[in-house]
Order: sequence, then C-alpha cells, then structure tokens
Amino acid sequence: MKTPGLALAAATIVAAVLAACAEPPAVAPVGGPVAPPVTVAPVVTAAPVVTAAPVVTAAPSAAPVGKGSSTPVGASRFVEEARRLGVDWKRPLAQIPLASKKKLMPLFVRSLGYESCSGCHVDGDFKTETRNLKIARQMWDHFLVGMRDAKGEPIFCDTCHAGKPKNLDRADMPALKLFMESDYKGKLTRADKNDNGCGLCHGYPFEGRLIEKVWGISAK
Ligand code: HEC
Ligand code: HEC
Ligand code: HEC
Repeated sequence: MKTPGLALAAATIVAAVLAACAEPPAVAPVGGPVAPPVTVAPVVTAAPVVTAAPVVTAAPSAAPVGKGSSTPVGASRFVEEARRLGVDWKRPLAQIPLASKKKLMPLFVRSLGYESCSGCHVDGDFKTETRNLKIARQMWDHFLVGMRDAKGEPIFCDTCHAGKPKNLDRADMPALKLFMESDYKGKLTRADKNDNGCGLCHGYPFEGRLIEKVWGISAK
C-alpha cells in the first residue's frame, strides 16, 4: 500500500523536477508510474462486497410471520423423565401419590423457567394455595390429562411453556388468534379424540380469559 504512495510521491518529485527543467516530452514516460494509483481504484470496486448486504436483508424474513412472539408448542424435554417417575397422566394432580408429586416438582420449576419452588409456593410452605399453584393444578388437570401432542403422545408443561411463565404475546390480538389456531388447536390433539376446537379449552360461549373467568382463579 505504501508503494503507490511512495511511487506517486517520487513521481511527483520527478515530475516537479522535470517540469522545473521545462522538458515536456519527458513527462509522458514519467506518467507511467503515476498511473498505478489509478489502478488502485479497482480495489475500491471491492466495495461490491458490501453488496453482500442483501444477505442481511434475508434476516427480517425469518422474523414475524404474523403470529406475534408467543411461545410455539414444541417437543417436550420432560415427558420421558416424568414417565420414568411412573406418573399416570390420566389422573388429576391431587390424586398423584405424594412421593411422585414431589419428584415432579423440579420439572415444574424447569418447565416454567422459575428460579426455585417459590415460583408457586410460599417459602417452606407447600400447602398454601397461591395463585400460581392453583393455575398449575388446573393446567395439569385440563392440559396434561386432557391433551396430547399431534401424534397422540402425552405432553408436559414445557410443551407450551418452554421455560417461560408468560408464554403469550397479547400485544396483537389478531396475531394471538392466529397463533392459537396454528399451535394450540393445530399442534395439539385431545385425549378423548374429539376435535380440538377453541371452545374445548375456552368454553361456550368463548371466554378468552380462561384462567380467571372459566377456572375462577382471581388475577390478584
Ligand atoms: C408451577 C408451580 C409449582 C412449582 C414451581 C412447584 N410446585 Fe409444588 N405444588 C404445586 C401444586 C399445583 C401442588 C398441589 C398439587 C395438589 O393438588 O395436590 C404442589 C404440591 C407440592 C407438595 C405437596 C404438598 C402437600 O403436602 O400436599 C410439595 C411437598 C411440593 N409441592 C414441593 C415443591 C418443591 C420442593 C418445589 C420446588 C422444587 C415445588 N413444589 C415447586 C405447584 C408447584
Ligand atoms: C396447552 C398449553 C399449556 C400447557 C400444557 C401448560 N400451560 Fe401453563 N399456561 C399456558 C398459558 C397460555 C398460560 C397463560 C400465559 C400468559 O398469560 O402469558 C399459562 C400460564 C401458567 C401459569 C401462570 C403464569 C403467570 O406468571 O401468570 C402457571 C403457573 C402455569 N401456566 C403452570 C403450568 C404447569 C405447572 C403446567 C404443567 C402441569 C402447565 N402450565 C402446562 C399454557 C399451557
Ligand atoms: C389447549 C387449550 C387451548 C386451545 C385449543 C385454544 N386456546 Fe386460546 N388460550 C388458551 C389459554 C390457556 C389462554 C390463556 C388464558 C388466560 O390467560 O386466562 C388462551 C388465551 C387466548 C386468547 C387471549 C385472551 C385474552 O383476553 O387475553 C385468545 C384471543 C385466544 N386464546 C384465542 C383462541 C382461539 C381463537 C382458539 C381456537 C383457534 C384458541 N384460543 C384455542 C388455551 C387454548
């Protein structure tokens, strides 16, 4: 890189000297070395590499598809672990033997992405009926007992939560409805083999705020 500059400087000096000597014809040959800096320009045309920018424009297309950022229904990481504990999915949570219930609790914590048991329990007290405990029990009784995945296999809390307590994006309601249609209706089936319609979770007539209005758990 220095060379062209030096060559240019040298050429300039030579040119100046030649100009001083007032011998125009000799300037032409000297023009040779001066030319290279011009060929440096093509290197600048390496700018087209910047046109690699279109690759960046590919990213946005992977973003919103009009369903908002609700957590998609996905494969469970914990179904197998819960199965090894010998859990009977057909039973309401309250009827699961205490010993297996205790073994399930860490899976609740991990499914919801909570830091500890205090996500649902008051410190050191596992009996108090907190809001999240009541919701968790209904989630088990309605969804784990009543729902299956697309292949008819059991699901677990992480199927819908994937580490997030708040898994719905309510900022855009039309988008949330599309998400419900594609994921909660489309990717889940029912243990009783009925069609998985919106009303089977939301009730008839349709009630969006299912936790509060259908299950009767106050928002607090
Ligand atoms: C996502 C909510 C949630 C989290 C997190 C959670 N639990 Fe629970 N836990 C429940 C629910 C719901 C019940 C009640 C089940 C029922 O109806 O019997 C329960 C019941 C219990 C019981 C039985 C209480 C009794 O005597 O009837 C124990 C013990 C317990 N949990 C321990 C834990 C421990 C330890 C942790 C942390 C590793 C934990 N829980 C985390 C929801 C949760
Ligand atoms: C069919 C999907 C689905 C399954 C399966 C499911 N949940 Fe949920 N859960 C939800 C939705 C949707 C909400 C509402 C989240 C929101 O408001 O963003 C929710 C909310 C909750 C909340 C309240 C969180 C908060 O901070 O308000 C708790 C606790 C909870 N679920 C526990 C559980 C547990 C425990 C299980 C497994 C026994 C479970 N869920 C299984 C869909 C599911
Ligand atoms: C597997 C059960 C399930 C099915 C099937 C289901 N939903 Fe939901 N839906 C939920 C849960 C759980 C919530 C959270 C409820 C709450 O926070 O009280 C929810 C929330 C919603 C909300 C947000 C309501 C509000 O006021 O914030 C809308 C809208 C909604 N669902 C529409 C639908 C539509 C439309 C369908 C059918 C295409 C459908 N849902 C199917 C479980 C289900």
